[in-house]
Amino acid sequence: MKLFLINGPNLNMLGKRDPEQYGTDTLADIQSMLEEQFPDHELTFFQSNGEGAIVSAIHDLVNSEYDGLIANFGAYTHTSVAIRDALEMLAIPTVEVHLSNIHAREEFRHQTLTGAVSNGIIAGFGKESYVLGIRAVEGLIRNA
Ligand code: DQA
Repeated sequence: MKLFLINGPNLNMLGKRDPEQYGTDTLADIQSMLEEQFPDHELTFFQSNGEGAIVSAIHDLVNSEYDGLIANFGAYTHTSVAIRDALEMLAIPTVEVHLSNIHAREEFRHQTLTGAVSNGIIAGFGKESYVLGIRAVEGLIRNA
């Protein structure tokens, strides 16, 4: 399976950023862990702090060879109509993931504009959220 993983703003700062909330692993550590755990999948990692760059990356997935998308849109989860509209063009399974449990945090994090157009949301399991996200996408692809 060819899976595309998007990480949004500030996730490039993992390791330095609020370790109590997000853990001490860097994004590179998480990516290596996923490559080790899923050697049979082709994983492509994309990170951007820019909303437009994320929208363009999603456009590139339309009619692409990728089988599924796992995405942590960071703060854009809660604000981005543009990313949500782009996701609506995708036919492949999409699972939204969050390191933290967004529903146990500030009220402005409870709403996810992007989650509403994803197949499902996994939140609150730290880096394991990405592992669960990949498993969920695998299941959706197999049962399609
Ligand atoms: C996050 C949760 C968001 O609310 C926050 O803005 C992030 C990280 C998470 O993975 O827990 O940047 O997406």
